[in-house]
Amino acid sequence: MKVLVLNGSPKKQSDTFRLTESFLRGLNKKERHEVTIIDVIDKNIAPCRGCFGCWAKMDGHCVIEDDQNGILDLYRNADLIIWSFPLYCYAMPSHLKAVMDRTIPLVKMKMVETADGRVQHEALADFSRIHTVVICGCGFPNWDGNFDGLRIMCKHAFCNPTMVCVPETPLLNVPQAAIVADPLLAKFEKAGEEYAESFTLSADTVASLEYPMISREDYLRNVNGG
Ligand SMILES: Cc1cc2nc3c(=O)[nH]c(=O)nc-3n(C[C@H](O)[C@H](O)[C@H](O)COP(=O)(O)O)c2cc1C
Repeated sequence: MKVLVLNGSPKKQSDTFRLTESFLRGLNKKERHEVTIIDVIDKNIAPCRGCFGCWAKMDGHCVIEDDQNGILDLYRNADLIIWSFPLYCYAMPSHLKAVMDRTIPLVKMKMVETADGRVQHEALADFSRIHTVVICGCGFPNWDGNFDGLRIMCKHAFCNPTMVCVPETPLLNVPQAAIVADPLLAKFEKAGEEYAESFTLSADTVASLEYPMISREDYLRNVNGG
């Protein structure tokens, strides 16, 4: 299958991308997939102008001629799209949000009601084949609500994606934390294998991936140097 990875970390050594790399390793274990990784920060992608010029053309492209149209081509041909990014102010980083906003050329103005009572724009073509995985890392230790806004947005925008939200991800690039980071990376690799089999992750798997590497008290003590 064709896998498109949208890496939304602006850093060369992304904490979150370490998780995504492990997931991809597992995904590719039984069968090697065609993986395209886009480092979004290196692309020239302007914010959406809100002109709806795409809905006048209806060719699946944006009227702004920058790198987004190439991403839209990859997007519509993908079987699996992995959004990998750090949590920024309870949401996705703005340069990645620009990519998301500018997927509007892939839907029509026409609005349709869904079986569960929502309203959405009709897709330009049948994209029901496309699966979505969201992998998000963050700097806070585990606390109820940190990912709430992101979860709701992704649920609606990506129609119930497989979503993994991981606390304490800066530990993934701290060499002294390898003792707790490596087991998590191994779990992500296993999760990639599970996903390749079924296009889903069990609730238990997601819970184990989201489980904090160290306690909140230890994490705060380390961060605060106390
Ligand atoms: C601008 C900015 C906003 C951030 N906002 C949050 C936040 O709302 N919640 C959180 O837990 N961490 C937040 N963080 C921390 C990052 O999510 C965290 O450092 C993450 O591990 C970075 O991942 P990366 O290396 O993949 O980019 C923020 C970091 C930056 C730079």
